[in-house]
Amino acid sequence: MFNKLMSFLVLFVTILPVMAQPREAIDFNEDWSFTLEDDLQFRRADFSAASWKKVSLPHDWSIGFDFGEEYPAGNAGGALPGGIGWYRKSFQLSENDKGSHFTLHFGGVYRYAEVWLNDQYLGKNVNGYLSFEHDLTPYLRYGNEQNVIAVRVDNSLQPNSRWYTGSGIYRDVRLEKRSPVHLLRAETFITTPEVSAEKSTLRVQSALNQTIPGKAGKVVLKLRDKDKQTVAEKTFALTNNLLEEELQVGQVALWSPDSPTLYDLDITVLDDKNKVLDVLGYKVGFRYFNFDEHGFSLNGQPLKLLGVCLHHDLGALGAAFNKSAAKRQLLMMKDMGVNAIRTAHNPPAEEFLDLCDELGFLVQNESYDMWAKRKNKFDYHIDFKEHHIDDLISLVKRDRNHPSVFMWSIGNEIREQFDDTGTELTKNMTAVVKQLDPTRPVTAALTETDYDKNFIAQAQVLDVLGFNYKYFDYDKLPTEFKGYPLIASETTSALQTRGVYDPLQDTIQLWPASSQDKFVTNGNPDFTVSAYDNVAAYWGTSHERAWIEVKKRDFLGGIFVWTGFDYLGEPVPYPYPARSSYYGIVDLAGLPKDVYYMYQSEWTDADVLHLLPHWNWKEGEQVDVWCYYNNADEVELFLNGRSLGRQAKTNDRLHAAWKVPFEAGELKAVKLKDGKAVQEVIKKTAGKPVDITVDVEHDRYAVDGSTDLYFLTVSLVDENGTVVPDNDLELSFIPQENITIVGTDNGYQADLNSLSSPKRNTYKGLAVGMIKKEDISKEGKILIKTNTIEKEIMIK
Ligand code: GAL
Repeated sequence: MFNKLMSFLVLFVTILPVMAQPREAIDFNEDWSFTLEDDLQFRRADFSAASWKKVSLPHDWSIGFDFGEEYPAGNAGGALPGGIGWYRKSFQLSENDKGSHFTLHFGGVYRYAEVWLNDQYLGKNVNGYLSFEHDLTPYLRYGNEQNVIAVRVDNSLQPNSRWYTGSGIYRDVRLEKRSPVHLLRAETFITTPEVSAEKSTLRVQSALNQTIPGKAGKVVLKLRDKDKQTVAEKTFALTNNLLEEELQVGQVALWSPDSPTLYDLDITVLDDKNKVLDVLGYKVGFRYFNFDEHGFSLNGQPLKLLGVCLHHDLGALGAAFNKSAAKRQLLMMKDMGVNAIRTAHNPPAEEFLDLCDELGFLVQNESYDMWAKRKNKFDYHIDFKEHHIDDLISLVKRDRNHPSVFMWSIGNEIREQFDDTGTELTKNMTAVVKQLDPTRPVTAALTETDYDKNFIAQAQVLDVLGFNYKYFDYDKLPTEFKGYPLIASETTSALQTRGVYDPLQDTIQLWPASSQDKFVTNGNPDFTVSAYDNVAAYWGTSHERAWIEVKKRDFLGGIFVWTGFDYLGEPVPYPYPARSSYYGIVDLAGLPKDVYYMYQSEWTDADVLHLLPHWNWKEGEQVDVWCYYNNADEVELFLNGRSLGRQAKTNDRLHAAWKVPFEAGELKAVKLKDGKAVQEVIKKTAGKPVDITVDVEHDRYAVDGSTDLYFLTVSLVDENGTVVPDNDLELSFIPQENITIVGTDNGYQADLNSLSSPKRNTYKGLAVGMIKKEDISKEGKILIKTNTIEKEIMIK
């Protein structure tokens, strides 16, 4: 009998490794109930939320509103309401789940998230941009009983930001199920102490939540390439709960923005009976880099960081994270030549970093826009003292295993740089980061270019100094801050509305003109800014000027342009009704402004020939015609077949330019290389709008199916198919089958209609609809119409 029982047990334990699901990440985004009321009764498990709105996460409750002047966030905060909201969700677990360990992981909640499970208070998270989790295990119910999660989110203290934050559970939530003995993600640190294409070392440090019961267990490290072939493997015994091992790896393809090769690392923990207790998976990239006073290099090659700053919102989606929308942003930046992103001024969604690993971007991950000294009445400074160290720890532990992350920034334009309180804080924070991650440099984005007045630099602990704006001071930096690697951590702040062209001035217009003015005093009555690269905030300059100044200085490791995309809030230079920024190279709807092609012509080898403006003007009016181009010597311009001469860019002007008296018809630019025409582009005078064209983009931005968005760019066209830039119409996006409208936008910074509305005016002939399929496996159908034009679009 005893022997029989033994053999049964042996059989049982040997089968288990096959059957066991040691770790599961359960999508917890669906079936939430939401209300914008506040009552502490809502935390009770027996409260009925049947009358609340049904929502899916990620969710931003602010974005659904029309813009308004009355909201205390102000137009700098996006002119949308904050407030207090509650979320509830019920769920069941089977009896078989008893004994497993469960945590609820929130990717980000803005702000002050308090969580209850089955009447039990689990705690409060303060930082609105960091992930956090709660251990649910002690309070869970199994079998037929319901579990009830209640979350109170408080974004009522306003203003609390210099930009739009969004409100609510705006990033993914997942339920993580693990065996009682499991690896701790936060304690796992994967580094590459030695890297070369021929021979590398991978070091894995991690910890279990407890020692393995019974005799010593073991750990298997396995590294596989993209074809799932094992490239390195190691098994070793584990006698306590800490592990630190190195894996020798032979030939690898190095990770870089041009070739972002990733490997899969699995860390598998087994007990002494070979039962799998846990498996933790990571993407690994092999790369090494160096910063010194001569610049930056990656994998041994000099590389100029061609970067943009990005805020976290996704235009019409608000702050609600969507991976396909983020992928769209990143791929547009990639096509423009960007190789680096600065996440301004806060940690991004975890999935954003996954995309950066996969698509190839070097990421400067930033923690704070302020320390103890405020920029806004209720911003993070009120929590800084109590939370800044723990939050920094949580940031570094969360993101240190991403190959894309190459630098930590402890702050942006921090006011403590101007007095000696900055020195101590810099030392403390840098030490915290270094202790958790000695492999990456620590920087800060500074503004003070005199060493004697810069108390953050005086701490002498930062590895890289970033300087924002003030290009006229660049040449003194190497002597003022001797020996430090330097980057232009923020530049430009030029202002533009897509498709708007005002007569050019000889000098860059500063709007507002100086710190004496809050707003521009001689701006446009319709709150637009010309899209010739000719207007900037007084602390900034044009795109061309900023790039020329960084380009010619090798000692600057790179540039981070403010900003890649327009974002909600901070609509310098205007008061309300302006409600989103003018800084973007791409507008809020995701439509490139002309200057996008200046960067593309400078930062890539792709053939660029971009002509501006449109060709609908008054007869005889003098029009400034510009052309961005590359891979050629000069450009010849023709108006209705007549040559208007050849022009070339110079070291100091990155476009060709003509002044042309307007005549309706056809404007053509021909790019010439060695005297031969190699590319041409035509702008035609458009007539009345008679039709729309719809360009559906999805496949390139697809991520996981269920949350994928489809981006519909609608153009108003005349009878010849020319886009009509001066006769905008209202569009209605009407779902017919299997379609939900997620948002609509036209990039115009003073359009006050809610970005969730299915109705949108075109702006300068264009608008974008963001939709999703209810069932991704089936076709969808949507009708897009104006008063006179109607088009049904099948979404394949
Ligand atoms: C910078 C600041 C950014 C943004 C920008 C606008 O000084 O770091 O967050 O405010 O100005 O020009």
